Amino acid sequence: MELIHRPRRLRRHENIRRLVRETSLEPSQFVAPLFIKRGKGLKEPIDTMPGQYRLSADELSKEAGALVRVGVGAVNLFGYSESKDDGASASYDPEGVIPSAVRAVKKTHPELCVQTDIALDPYSIHGHDGLVIEGEVANDETVEVLCRMALAHAEAGVDWVAPSDMMDGRVGAIRDALDGAGFEHVGILAYSAKYASCFYGPFRGALDSAPRKGDKKSYQMDPANRREALKEIALDIEEGADVVMVKPALAYLDVIAAARAEFDVPIAAYNVSGEYGMIVAAADRGLIDRDAAILESLLAIRRAGADMILTYFAREAAGLLAR
Ligand code: PBG
Repeated sequence: MELIHRPRRLRRHENIRRLVRETSLEPSQFVAPLFIKRGKGLKEPIDTMPGQYRLSADELSKEAGALVRVGVGAVNLFGYSESKDDGASASYDPEGVIPSAVRAVKKTHPELCVQTDIALDPYSIHGHDGLVIEGEVANDETVEVLCRMALAHAEAGVDWVAPSDMMDGRVGAIRDALDGAGFEHVGILAYSAKYASCFYGPFRGALDSAPRKGDKKSYQMDPANRREALKEIALDIEEGADVVMVKPALAYLDVIAAARAEFDVPIAAYNVSGEYGMIVAAADRGLIDRDAAILESLLAIRRAGADMILTYFAREAAGLLAR
């Protein structure tokens, strides 16, 4: 054949392929979500998420050390709360599980980027991300509590707060609250386009936080919508978000790509618990190659346009990349 273009020339061997590779995957782009519970020396396996644990603050510091050694520079902390009430009062306790963990890990690893989840679901009896008033998740009342929670975390030394609740106006309100208290340096990683997804199931088992009644569709987005994601992201940027997030990641790569094309701020994507579970389960049954599936799916999320990825595979993937 007389061909001018032979794309295979650029695939002949690995060193050539590397020269023309368009997307990189680095441990520094990963954020490890971690589940924190009160206690000492606690590393409790999570039934719904094989390979993931609930850690006490001292174990968190050890895990942070392991992450730093493989090049992962950020953790995102979720609190397991034994105390749950209607007002989610444990969420803003300055001595609560998360502020204590932040202080502990910042003491041992001051350079680690420590992020904390801001939402009420692990701390409330009903399992919703906001306060339930007369059967509805009440927006403005919730935002006040979220601000108190963000302040408690800021006082403990967090780098970024990450509101995952999807209330309207919470990014601006949290920014005001932080600035008003002298925490101008604390960043906001906003869960901007967070969908009402079945892929959060395993996570809710980790925190015992599934809604007791109903679902989260009155605040999390309809999986059918893409334009609406761009609107949510635009609002969060206007309100002062430093980084915006699309969640879940793998079933929403088009949303990540659309956000990348439209906005210049850093974009995070959350490779959520159900996405983790699908790879773990399929690999356990011998249906796919675990290592290859991890790296290929993380690469896909980066190729779609995410700068950073929250992933339960953070440590494992960093290890794979170092081989
Ligand atoms: C709750 C929250 C959820 C996740 C992160 N923050 C669950 C939910 O919205 O019900 C899901 C993360 C995952 O599935 O890995 N504020």
